[in-house]
This record gives sequence, structure tokens and C-alpha cells, in this order.
Amino acid sequence: MLGTKIFIFILLCYRVTAEVNDRYYPRYHLAPPYGWMNDPNGFSEYKNEYHLFYQFNPNSSYEPGIAHWGHAKSKDLFSWEHLPIAMYPDQWYDKGGVFSGSAIVEDGKLYLYYTGNVNKPEEYPDHEQHQILAISTNGINVTKQVINPIINGSEYQPDFRDPKVWKRGNMYYMVLGNSFQDSETNSTLGRALLYTSKDKVNWNFASILDESDGSLGYMWECPDFFELNGRFVLLFSPQGIQPSGYKYRNLYQTGYIVGNFDYRTNIFTPITEFVELDYGHDFYATQTILDKAKRRIVIAWMDMWNQNYIEAEDGFTGQMTIPRVLSLDKYNRLIQRPVNEIESIRRRQTRHQGSARAGAVIRLRDKAGEIHITTSATKDLDILIQSSNESSTVIISYNYKRGLVTLNRGGKDGVRRAKWRPSDKLHLKAYIDASSIELFFGNGELTFSSRFFPTGAIKVRIGDSSDVESLTIFDLQRTIDARYELESED
Ligand SMILES: *[C@@H]1O[C@H](CO)[C@@H](O)[C@H](O)[C@H]1NC(C)=O
Ligand SMILES: *[C@@H]1O[C@H](CO)[C@@H](O)[C@H](O)[C@H]1NC(C)=O
Ligand SMILES: *[C@@H]1O[C@H](CO)[C@@H](O)[C@H](O)[C@H]1NC(C)=O
Ligand SMILES: *[C@@H]1O[C@H](CO)[C@@H](O)[C@H](O)[C@H]1NC(C)=O
Ligand SMILES: *[C@@H]1O[C@H](CO)[C@@H](O)[C@H](O)[C@H]1NC(C)=O
Repeated sequence: MLGTKIFIFILLCYRVTAEVNDRYYPRYHLAPPYGWMNDPNGFSEYKNEYHLFYQFNPNSSYEPGIAHWGHAKSKDLFSWEHLPIAMYPDQWYDKGGVFSGSAIVEDGKLYLYYTGNVNKPEEYPDHEQHQILAISTNGINVTKQVINPIINGSEYQPDFRDPKVWKRGNMYYMVLGNSFQDSETNSTLGRALLYTSKDKVNWNFASILDESDGSLGYMWECPDFFELNGRFVLLFSPQGIQPSGYKYRNLYQTGYIVGNFDYRTNIFTPITEFVELDYGHDFYATQTILDKAKRRIVIAWMDMWNQNYIEAEDGFTGQMTIPRVLSLDKYNRLIQRPVNEIESIRRRQTRHQGSARAGAVIRLRDKAGEIHITTSATKDLDILIQSSNESSTVIISYNYKRGLVTLNRGGKDGVRRAKWRPSDKLHLKAYIDASSIELFFGNGELTFSSRFFPTGAIKVRIGDSSDVESLTIFDLQRTIDARYELESED
């Protein structure tokens, strides 16, 4: 017995003091304090602070488990403070998971809409989903309303989830993801449903915003719908799209359709095809808000289902992307730019500024940095992100002749590509953070977000036949703490 105790004691000491947890834990991206994180939920601005909830399993970093809502807040979208678990799966209608949802703020209260999931292992279908309302009057404690579900989804089972709510004039609107049985093809297809309400509690079906014709998957998760630069954007995460050339390479996708919308008829008229929002390996389940500065900010889960990344061994899985401001260009493409607040986490001294010769190597401080490149658009470019884990080297390349951008993170299925040609100079901004890289090409018209697993210091290496006209590297500060550091403060 004593032997066991000593063994456990040594194990605990190891976990508290060892560096392991720092290997992959992000310095400035929101990750869970421990356990498993997936979709962002309830993104909101409450009493001058941003709040972000997320799908959270406190029991294990290896599996999603039964979803809770984890919770964090921040004044600047980078310095996040972890808050107590906001919601547990403790009611008959959510005992199979407090699934994804959103928030609106009114009268000093935070209204949280989510999907209550109930598993029915012996039945077909094997789960049931309804929409639930919970309220917080202080931004921390959350109370599920007495009369729930607020939307009984009996007509839309089994997949009827992820309410995203907004207000316009005196009306409230909710978009929901759903799958339906198409009688013509006898197949299950995804769609987005619109509901309206006059009082935030009683909701009526209004319209089908859009639906898959078979080419856009069997289920649309996490739909979001908003006005941007005079158009409307339906942003969602379809499941079941087959890979096609450079497109749809991930297990599930996230993308958008731009169109026009009439609030009198609730009819959405698409004017574009479905386009992926990001071309990296790890980008899913987006959620947006319109903040007080009138910015449409998007955040995504920077991970993907079924990946089994090594970070789970360190007690956490999952993180969010950098929050990005969205705009729409004249081609109806979404443009993404990191929120300006990122400038406030740069360390004072720039690590590198000026031109850079082929083969130049610059080491990042503490695995966290921001890289700006401006160079000729008519020459090939290779940038390598290296560490002592050689199988996790990331190679970023631009092929001038083919008009092609490639991110290769190594390993099985390591390559992601997109056609792209800069209009003038080649501009690239890259953000590196311990186990992630986010690339923004041009003015943000092409992005790649991927996880990778470097060990030891991270080095940026200019390819052997690439000269870079202008290279600026900033070190970025740590704005978020990992689990074991928090625990050892006690
Ligand atoms: C998960 O944690 C809760 C406490 O929040 C506990 O009641 C439950 O039994 C745990 N579930 C599993 C599957 O371990
Ligand atoms: C909020 O919940 C905590 C426990 O999680 C409790 O200590 C506190 O009193 C609650 N505050 C309010 C205002 O209900
Ligand atoms: C939903 O409505 C159906 C049909 O009216 C009813 O049988 C069922 O009990 C309701 N479920 C919930 C969760 O309220
Ligand atoms: C439609 O599909 C379901 C299962 O997906 C199957 O059970 C049923 O027989 C099919 N019906 C027709 C008419 O093909
Ligand atoms: C090294 O990188 C590979 C490929 O990304 C990854 O699977 C592996 O877990 C990494 N090894 C370590 C020790 O981090």
C-alpha cells in the first residue's frame, strides 16, 4: 500500500513540475484548463468583457464524453480567464450532453440557447435533441429555465441542434442545423432552419434557409447567419462532403454561401456556391458575434474529429483559433484578419526586421510568434517551421507557375493546397503557437489553420532558393495558463 502511495505521489509531482504540459499548450489561444474542448459556444460581449463558452469534457482529454459548457472571459480576446463550468448535463433533457449553442445579451442578462441531447441506446434513432434556454444574471452562474425545452423538435429528430440566436428590431431569430430524409433520393441530407420569436421564449418555425442537394452532406452543424457588407452569409459545418481535388480534404468541413435575404418573407437566395472558409487541417464549428465595435468576429475550434493528437497525454485536447474579423470582398469572398488586439501581445523587441536570405534561420522565443512576409509574387517561396521533431516540420510553399499554395505538416495526409495568385506582392502573415499554425495570405482571402507537434525550440527557416524581400518576426507574449500551473498556485 505504501509503495502505491509513493508511486502516486511521484506521479503527481511529475505532473505538477514537469515541462510536458508546456510542450503543446498554447500561449495565446484559448484552450481548456484540462480535459476535452470542442465547439465554441455562447460567444458574447457581456459587461465589457468577451465571454466564450465551449463544449467541454472535464472527465477526460481523450474523448468528448458527455458535453458540459466550459467557460472563459477576456477583455482583449487573448488574455483569457478560466471560469467555473457553466452548465452540467444534469437535467432529463440534457443528460446526454449540453450540446452547442449561442448567447444574446439583453437587460444585463446573458441568454444562453443550447441543444439538450438525450441518448437512447436501445432505440432507433438512438438520440433525441431539443432546444433549451438558460439565463445568467452575473456572467458566471447559469440557471436553466423551469419551462424547457423551449423548442420541442419532435418533427425534426434525430439531428436538430446548434441554435444561433440574434435580434433584429423587435424580433428574435434562430438558425438551427437539421438533417432530413429526402424523398426523391431516399437519402439523409443537411439543412438550416430558421425560427422566429417575439419574446425569446416562444419560437415558431419560419423557413428553410437552405438545404443540401446531395452534394453538401447529410448534416449541417453549427449554422450561423448574418448580414455583411450588404449581403447575407450562411456559415455552417456540413458533414458528409466527399473530397474533390484540393477541396474538402478534412473529415468535416466549414464553409459558407453568400446570398440575399428578405426579412419580410424569410427567404434566403444564394448567389454563390459553397466555399470553404479555411484550407488547413483543423478548423471546425465556427461561431460569430457582432461586437460593440461592429466587428463581425469569427472563432473556430482548431482541431478536427478523430485525430487523437498527442496533446491528450498532457491532460488537454482542443483549442480555439485566433479570433478573426470578417469582411466580404467584391467577389463575395469572406476575408479574415486577426483582431487588432493581437498587436498588444507582441513583445517590444522585434525578433527580425528586414530582408532575409535563402537559408536564414530565426528561432522563436517560447514557441510563439507572428511572421510577416512581403516578397515577389513571381518567384517560388518556401518557408520551413522546424524543431527537433523532424516529422512535424511544416513547409509552407507558393508555386508561382501553378498559382498554388501548399501547407505540408508532414505525416499521413499532411498536405493541404489551394489555388491562389497574389494580385501585387505576395503577402503572408503566419501565427505560430506551440502546436498550431495559422496562415493568412494576401489581405486574408486565403487561410490555413493546422495543428503540428514540434518538440524543443521552434525555428523559422527561409527555403534554400527563396530570398524574402521583407521579413518581420514578432515574439508573442503568453496570455493564457495551463492547468498544472494553475493548480500549483494553490
Ligand atoms: C463526469 O464527471 C461528472 C462530474 O461532473 C461525474 O458525475 C460523472 O460520473 C463523470 N462521468 C464519467 C463518464 O466519468
Ligand atoms: C454562483 O455559484 C457559486 C458556486 O459555483 C456560488 O458559490 C455563488 O454563491 C453563486 N453566486 C450567485 C450569485 O448565485
Ligand atoms: C414533444 O412533442 C411531442 C408531440 O407533441 C410529445 O409527444 C413529446 O412528449 C414532446 N417532447 C418534449 C421533450 O417535450
Ligand atoms: C430508404 O432508406 C431507408 C434506410 O436509409 C431504407 O430502410 C428504405 O428501405 C429505403 N426506401 C426506399 C424506398 O428505397
Ligand atoms: C512528432 O510529430 C508527429 C507528426 O506530427 C506527431 O505525430 C508526433 O506525436 C510528434 N512527436 C512528439 C514527441 O511530439
